[in-house]
Amino acid sequence: MQENINNNETLDFEIKNVNLYYGEKHTLKGVNLKLAHNKVTAFIGPSGCGKSTLLRCLNRMNDLIPNCKIEGEILFKGQDIKAMNPIDLRTRVGMVFQQPNPFPMSIFDNVAYGPRCSGIKNKAKLLEIVVDSLKKASLYDEVKDRLKDNALGLSGGQQQRLCIARTIAMKPEVILMDEPTSALDPIATLKIEELISTLKEDYTIVIVTHNMQQATRVSDQTAFFLLGEMVEFNDTDELFKNPRDKRTEDYITGRFG
Ligand SMILES: Nc1ncnc2c1ncn2[C@@H]1O[C@H](COP(=O)(O)OP(=O)(O)O)[C@@H](O)[C@H]1O
Ligand SMILES: [Mg+2]
Repeated sequence: MQENINNNETLDFEIKNVNLYYGEKHTLKGVNLKLAHNKVTAFIGPSGCGKSTLLRCLNRMNDLIPNCKIEGEILFKGQDIKAMNPIDLRTRVGMVFQQPNPFPMSIFDNVAYGPRCSGIKNKAKLLEIVVDSLKKASLYDEVKDRLKDNALGLSGGQQQRLCIARTIAMKPEVILMDEPTSALDPIATLKIEELISTLKEDYTIVIVTHNMQQATRVSDQTAFFLLGEMVEFNDTDELFKNPRDKRTEDYITGRFG
């Protein structure tokens, strides 16, 4: 079941009045947000405002945190995620973290890991998935002659693209990225940003970034958060050109954060 919004976009996520508590701490406050299919949405805001927390809600990673209580509703393609199998959800909604975290095994085995776990054993099939995923992650040409080498020997930027390939190998519909370039140098960062622009043809992407230039470079839509509240959500150009809320304006003009 899919739903259209005013401008005829298909929605992947509908976040409806979500409140989240870590113990007593009210961390997300009445968040409402609709994420369109095959768009890049950026979550921006000062450190500690709840960007990563909201991102983790989308594939139920917060389920793994004791004392975390979530109220409200999150629909993925019209279906309440609470009613979904969390493993299936995390396959369909993959995640890439701030620190590249390849497994200490070969490049090939890193990408084949998920497909193998899901029962694919055929060698030719696995090779096809690995090559295809590495190509989609713009890494294949750099590693095609050393697929058996340990992934930990790759540079930080290559490791992060490997993690993206590992996610892609599971054929997700959405890719969540939590500050995917904050551990990388400017050139590696640029490569990931270019990659995001190509990936959005096939995937819906949500990226947390504290770098506002990055949000303007890669995202179609931006949500600005402050102290657990979603203050403003708009097309990225519009949000940065014509912020409607004084707090957004203060943040993007560098008055705080
Ligand atoms: N596992 C956790 N347990 C308790 N508090 C947490 C946990 N994770 C994050 N927080 C708190 O929730 C708030 C929002 O954190 P986070 O979502 O990481 O913010 P951001 O990603 O915007 O920097 C912060 O005050 C943080 O300390
Ligand atoms: Mg964070």
